[in-house]
Amino acid sequence: MTQLRVRRARLLDDGDLVDLHVEGGRVSSVERHSTDAPDRVADVEIDAAGGLVRPPFVEPHIHLDATLTAGEPRWNSSGTLWEGIAVWSERKRSVSREDVIARAEQVLRWQAAQGVLFVRSHCDVTDPDLTALDALLELRERVRDVVVLQVVAFPQEGIVSFPDGAKLLEEAVRRGADVVGAIPHFEDTREDGVRSLEIAVDIAARYDKAVDAHCDEIDDEQSRFVEVLATLALRSGLRERVTASHTTAMGSYNAAYAFKLERLLGRAGINLVSNPLVNLALQGRFDDYPKRRGLTRVKEMLAAGVNVAFGSDDVMDPWFPLGTASPMLLAHTGVVAAQMTGQDEIAETLEMVSTRAARVLGLGEEYGLEPGRPANLVVLPATSRLDAVRRQVAPQWVVARGGLVAERGPSPVRLRWLGEEHVVDFVRDGDAAAATWRDASIREGVSP
Ligand code: FE2
Repeated sequence: MTQLRVRRARLLDDGDLVDLHVEGGRVSSVERHSTDAPDRVADVEIDAAGGLVRPPFVEPHIHLDATLTAGEPRWNSSGTLWEGIAVWSERKRSVSREDVIARAEQVLRWQAAQGVLFVRSHCDVTDPDLTALDALLELRERVRDVVVLQVVAFPQEGIVSFPDGAKLLEEAVRRGADVVGAIPHFEDTREDGVRSLEIAVDIAARYDKAVDAHCDEIDDEQSRFVEVLATLALRSGLRERVTASHTTAMGSYNAAYAFKLERLLGRAGINLVSNPLVNLALQGRFDDYPKRRGLTRVKEMLAAGVNVAFGSDDVMDPWFPLGTASPMLLAHTGVVAAQMTGQDEIAETLEMVSTRAARVLGLGEEYGLEPGRPANLVVLPATSRLDAVRRQVAPQWVVARGGLVAERGPSPVRLRWLGEEHVVDFVRDGDAAAATWRDASIREGVSP
């Protein structure tokens, strides 16, 4: 008997229904749905009932070492990035292995429950003991059958401007960090910032690692380190293994310079990660009105052929007091913040928290629903990507390496309305494609 089967799945917005079979933890076949097929052919049967079945969500940018510390030892009262760094430098004195693992693992559970099965977490390595790094590397190994965790050695307080910053960064990579980070706009001078990127790219090249730099996370239109990073990516040959995160200064660049950048970034092949929730909240804090949005040029860079993904960045930490690490909230916020309100643009925001983020992590053939690939997937009770983003639907089922790891019971709201009972699920009346799964979501569950 097949290990697991997902019946009546819709892989594309307007696609035909298919049945997806899993054997040995991998997708074994994807066939057009047949009503002649026997009712039960697998140990675990999931009836998607016409809902979207997609590869899992991917988190390209989060800080799990600092997560769930909001208010410790004090709240960030100004709300600025800079006070956040100051509060974190106080909190990190009490960081321990157990403390980091407990908080990080809780957020990983939240993510898995929402179908996020690949996570890239930055980890502050401006700690001479590298306590948080060792903790996250330990956690990475323990959770690997459910969630693939990439750890970025992130020099929160600088590489050149922090004592022994470069040594600590290299030591973190030697201990097993997957990705080399940087923070050039935080270094003391422009020259230090340039030098810090050269050091990061050099370490990455020598240890065969990827690069993911916090780059130009500031409203200063003079902060132009992304051109340095892109050029180093091009000349070192690391190219698509290099990511510039945040790049919020790009939202303040003049059009002539932005045009030059589009060309350079396109040629270099680097990725951008925008963090719409946190960028909206943190940037523009020094502006009077009009106040800048604080996002990078998301639409324009996508149009220029640059891979752009959305990340959470912070979940209840000194930089952002809210958050549940929800990929659907990110996509939804991205629609608004980046003004991606066209029909195709809304659909694209779902790719930015899944397939485009997978490119940032360099997942290659470890990701996707093609036969032979590891069976990681989510079943969304939605008929299209636009529908999924609009209603911010959570997966009904999450499958990791062929095993069911999360399921959500049907929970439509029953509304008593002027003498009648209505089921409210926020689907627009008349959406014929939704009829099947709407009925099924109330009637059926998974059969173990
Ligand atoms: Fe960040």
